Amino acid sequence: MQKLIVKGRNRISGTVKISGSKNATLPILAASILSNKKIEINNIPIVKDVITMSELLKHIGSNIKVNIKKKKILILNKKKFLKTVAPYSLLKTMRAGVIILGPLLSKFGRATVSLPGGCAIGTRPVDIHLFGLKKLGAKIKIKNGYIIAEAKKGLNGTTVKLPSISVGATENIIIAASYAKGVTYINNCACEPEIKNLTDFLKKMGIKIFWTGKRKIKIIGNQKLRSVKHSVMFDRIEAGTFMIAGALSGKKLKIINLESKILKKELLVLKKMGVKLKIKKNEITVLNSKNIKPASIVTEPYPGFPTDLQAQIMVLMIKARGISKIKENIFENRFMHVPELNRMGGKIKVSGNLSTIHGPQELNGAEVMATDLRASVSLVLAGLVANNRTVINRVYHLDRGYENLEKKLRKCNANISRLNY
Ligand code: EPZ
Repeated sequence: MQKLIVKGRNRISGTVKISGSKNATLPILAASILSNKKIEINNIPIVKDVITMSELLKHIGSNIKVNIKKKKILILNKKKFLKTVAPYSLLKTMRAGVIILGPLLSKFGRATVSLPGGCAIGTRPVDIHLFGLKKLGAKIKIKNGYIIAEAKKGLNGTTVKLPSISVGATENIIIAASYAKGVTYINNCACEPEIKNLTDFLKKMGIKIFWTGKRKIKIIGNQKLRSVKHSVMFDRIEAGTFMIAGALSGKKLKIINLESKILKKELLVLKKMGVKLKIKKNEITVLNSKNIKPASIVTEPYPGFPTDLQAQIMVLMIKARGISKIKENIFENRFMHVPELNRMGGKIKVSGNLSTIHGPQELNGAEVMATDLRASVSLVLAGLVANNRTVINRVYHLDRGYENLEKKLRKCNANISRLNY
């Protein structure tokens, strides 16, 4: 096991380069199942979830090579068939693996994929995924914890109106419809930037995809695909995390390799909280911000405030002069970081999906437990501004989605190290 040790109160300053997005890389890797042509994916983040997804593809027979040094993945599926069974052992740690269901089903007419199971933040059901695939003509049953899907004559384009907004379900259905016969219209789909990056990738593969409205997509299925070279977009959640790190303890923190236009909502909230920012097209500089003001936010699907930044902004709210509120509208149990932040001196009350944060509070280092990917990074942020030493256990949660976090922070003058024990 490993833990992180953070010695607080160093002023964060310097320049940090944002890595590629894990949540853009994962669906693109799933979509590679459709193709027998050469695929080159650049700017991938070397994080646990991307390695796990690569192992899952290798397990089903994909000819995939991960070049850690060059942050590049090469895929060339020459085999006519891939295995169409995705085992629980590979899905239990990474629920996003369920998005190989759509491509396997669409390409090979069948797929047996383990139900992903829940996690700390919620039960993570897949009913919307299955709803969409059934609309495309799949026969689906659940047996012994597995989704058993069949479409002997392949999938057929149709109109799919999703009952509620789901990132993963939208991705599964887009990829499945890309190889289906005919035209598919998807309404009420998620429109996260990572999904736009996926549709850019699919267009390069030769699929005709049109965003016909904010939450509407038209897909003309095509089985004659082209070789593709694609660079994954930046990780907007990592960018948001570093903006908050700068706001918490910054002198001057320059964050590069991003697209500010994708961070509109996050920048609006930070400005409202009194964070001083210099915003350019592909870089954001956080300046020393003394008087942090409270805010009230609601987590929403894009372009709303991202649930994946909720735990992080809560730490900034602890330092704000006044009462802040966070309504978590996406996941049913995403306040697991609150007890840990309170043990460090936070004064946060949770009632249902509403957290009330009283500030400003001084934070003191403590031994704390990470519970999920974004909660773990909120404990790092708290450690950066706490007195004395914070020890963060179960750091494997952090490694699922942040590339070289300690190295990037150390380069910006943070005192943070990793301990094997
Ligand atoms: C994606 O998860 C992200 N993961 C999550 O990031 C992110 O928090 C989430 O979208 C919301 O933005 C990846 O992209 C790999 P959803 P996903 O389907 O697709 C309910 C991180 O930290 N729902 O949009 O699983 C669901 O329970 C991770 O990087 C159903 O009810 O999220 C949730 O309440 C955490 N039925 C809500 O919808 C379904 O079939 C949104 O889930 C699917 C989802």
